[in-house]
Amino acid sequence: MKELPVIKKNNTNFSFWVNNRPFIILGGEVHNSACTSPKYMINVWKKAKDLNCNTVLMPIYWEQVEEREGFYDFTVVNRLVLEARKNNLKVVFLWFGAWKNGLSTYVPIWIKTDLERFPRVVNESGEKLKILSMFESEILRKECIVFEKLIEFIKKIDKTEHTVLAMQIENEVGVLNTLRDYSAKAEQEFKKEVPNQLLEYLNSIKDSSIKKLVCEIDESIPKNWSNIFGHNADEVFMAWHYSKYINELAKCCKNNYPLPIFTNVWLKATQDEKPGDYPAGGAIPEMLDVWKFGACELDAIAPDIYLFDFEKIAGLYARKDNPLIIPETRRDKWSVANLYLAIGKFHSLCYSPFGLESIGENKSFMTQLIHTDNNDKNVSNPMIKDYLALSYELLGNMVSILTDCYGTDKMTGFVQDEKEKNCKLKIGKYIIDIEFYHSVDEENKFIPGAGIIIQIRENELIFVGYGYKANLGTINTGMQLDFLSLEKGRFVNNGIWEKYMDLNGDEQYIKMEEKPTVLWAKYYEF
Ligand code: DGJ
Repeated sequence: MKELPVIKKNNTNFSFWVNNRPFIILGGEVHNSACTSPKYMINVWKKAKDLNCNTVLMPIYWEQVEEREGFYDFTVVNRLVLEARKNNLKVVFLWFGAWKNGLSTYVPIWIKTDLERFPRVVNESGEKLKILSMFESEILRKECIVFEKLIEFIKKIDKTEHTVLAMQIENEVGVLNTLRDYSAKAEQEFKKEVPNQLLEYLNSIKDSSIKKLVCEIDESIPKNWSNIFGHNADEVFMAWHYSKYINELAKCCKNNYPLPIFTNVWLKATQDEKPGDYPAGGAIPEMLDVWKFGACELDAIAPDIYLFDFEKIAGLYARKDNPLIIPETRRDKWSVANLYLAIGKFHSLCYSPFGLESIGENKSFMTQLIHTDNNDKNVSNPMIKDYLALSYELLGNMVSILTDCYGTDKMTGFVQDEKEKNCKLKIGKYIIDIEFYHSVDEENKFIPGAGIIIQIRENELIFVGYGYKANLGTINTGMQLDFLSLEKGRFVNNGIWEKYMDLNGDEQYIKMEEKPTVLWAKYYEF
């Protein structure tokens, strides 16, 4: 029997299984409004196929499935699942419920307009915001009902096919434009003591980032949020309450039809940003431990990585207690390069640039105006589409080889640094000098070089990627490394090697092509 999609954890690694086989989501997330238009979606499905995606990430909006209170209509869910199947694609649904990017813009009208039952977050000056408060509100009860109905519906239509691989709960939660919720009920909660279990948990973890936020505790004063967390108290308080809220929704899924579930994070753009400039209470790195405890039913907390420091962020979220899932990232030239890093170095279970249907097109989805700023995360061009499609095809046929290396040190991934043309790596006994062919250029003439290297056997390395050459040595002193053979080729049918050419004599060098390719080298030492 085909088992339900599942994220499995063993001691050292996480793996994602779909229909009893290891899987990596090589996907893209659609623009937020895309799913409302069946006509528009024709283009989306086509683009996903052109890009060799195996999965599309797409939202379901609360306002659409419960337009009238208590009347549920999942026609749109059904349509999207059927269309995905017709295109031989999988789906991750993003549940745009009470909060999306810090605001409450996707809830039904009957919620938006009933401020008695569904009060708003209030800022420090007493103004009501476009954000639903979770304090003294019916919102959680109502959201659990609709979310449970949605999960039941997915179970009904998909329990044998498994087109739906996972669910994202909410989208980039936290309060925007205020440090925290200052409504009367929130104030009452804020004055209470910090739950003991949270403090015990934070104390129990060795290397907790949050420990840096905890103040010296004087046993004689009340253990309330301000006394424990000082000037971070507001943010930790919101993080705790959002994580608990999302955990309740997660239970609705896990108790019914336990698909993998995660929530995503709007990261701080710079260290100078204050909570409220970004949604305060979201699972930014500093809040991750609070979230891991508060929302323990989630399989993952997933960063939306638009920042240029992709490697640092990926490293912060790929933890022993958290698999890396990247539901959103840039769709510019870095989207190609970072794919190799995400999978090769951080063993990501999901990689998904945002605005999938715009990949390759350099214009705004909303206005159709051309993007002119090269640093814009949305800048794209046909070369990016081409490289991403080739990369998805290439890696898509290597999934079992890649996932066999997850949690081991037999694989590494790398990407060209903006200021460097070289990098040094070590894998097993091999010392590797990488030289990239081109500098990272402003005009986007080249895609930054990137690759994955796998030590498939003691004396064999597989090189994947583009735009670089590699010189190898061995750590064994006095020994030299030489080729036994070097083959150029590709993988087909998920892991079958198809040789294209022997590279011998004059051409026996690790010189990757300009476009994504694979080389398989066998070495000996003398
Ligand atoms: C982050 C959000 O999570 C997405 O839904 C989308 O709005 C992008 N930002 C747009 O860049």
